[in-house]
Amino acid sequence: MTALLETRGVWQRFGGLIANSDVSISVGRGEIVGLIGPNGAGKSTLFNLIAGVLPPTQGSIIFDGEDVTNLPAAARCQRGIGRTFQVVKSFETMTVIDNVIVGALVRNTVMREARRKAHEVLEFTGLAARADVLASDLVPAEKRRLEVARALATEPKLLLLDEVLTGLTPTEAQTGVALVRKVRETGVTVLMVEHVMEIVMPLVDRAIVLDLGKVLAEGKPSDVVRDPNVIKAYLGDRHAVGA
Ligand SMILES: Nc1ncnc2c1ncn2[C@@H]1O[C@H](COP(=O)(O)OP(=O)(O)OP(=O)(O)O)[C@@H](O)[C@H]1O
Ligand SMILES: [Mg+2]
Repeated sequence: MTALLETRGVWQRFGGLIANSDVSISVGRGEIVGLIGPNGAGKSTLFNLIAGVLPPTQGSIIFDGEDVTNLPAAARCQRGIGRTFQVVKSFETMTVIDNVIVGALVRNTVMREARRKAHEVLEFTGLAARADVLASDLVPAEKRRLEVARALATEPKLLLLDEVLTGLTPTEAQTGVALVRKVRETGVTVLMVEHVMEIVMPLVDRAIVLDLGKVLAEGKPSDVVRDPNVIKAYLGDRHAVGA
């Protein structure tokens, strides 16, 4: 069975800065994969390249058996790449339901159908009771969930989550973890960026570590957290095993 997503030798340069350097990763159908790494490692940049916000400087992106490298973001969304943004991008002056309808319109051109889909997603994400409030009135944890809801309303095959559990209380984070598991149970593949190891490691099937734009390590979460190179990247030389 082929992977749902593959990046092949992907580079992204911003002037002299190399944000992604020869990144080749793959995500299998039905997997939850964690993309981790220190600040500035290039995680959000890689998400942008996968979602089509930016074309890579070099390399290719294969999604669901198709080379999508030259497709714009909207076309990739149509093919089933849904994403959230690290900086919450809800339409603050719109209601929660209308925010989700924006996502649902990707696949439903009839408004009534889009509204029905949006309601279904609000139920699924636990936001149904907040459907008619303004997005600006949501608490931070609900705003993150709204981001997930809007992405789910596009009916993705692959959901890219950029730090949706960051900055939440432990209880809110566990609610988020349960939601990610529930999303996967519906057959959606998940690639997620997350900083808090205690939250992300028990959740993911596999972890990929980026550091300085490169893939530093990849494997089972329990192996990755013990990898001396990973410990060094996160904590500095002092903490490296054997140092
Ligand atoms: N549009 C841009 N123009 C110039 N430099 C950029 C741009 N986007 C990202 N960078 C730089 O690329 C590097 C990687 O940034 P990126 O946001 O991908 O990291 P990240 O791993 O998501 O970090 P964080 O954990 O802080 O979110 C950083 O040095 C950043 O400043
Ligand atoms: Mg980021």
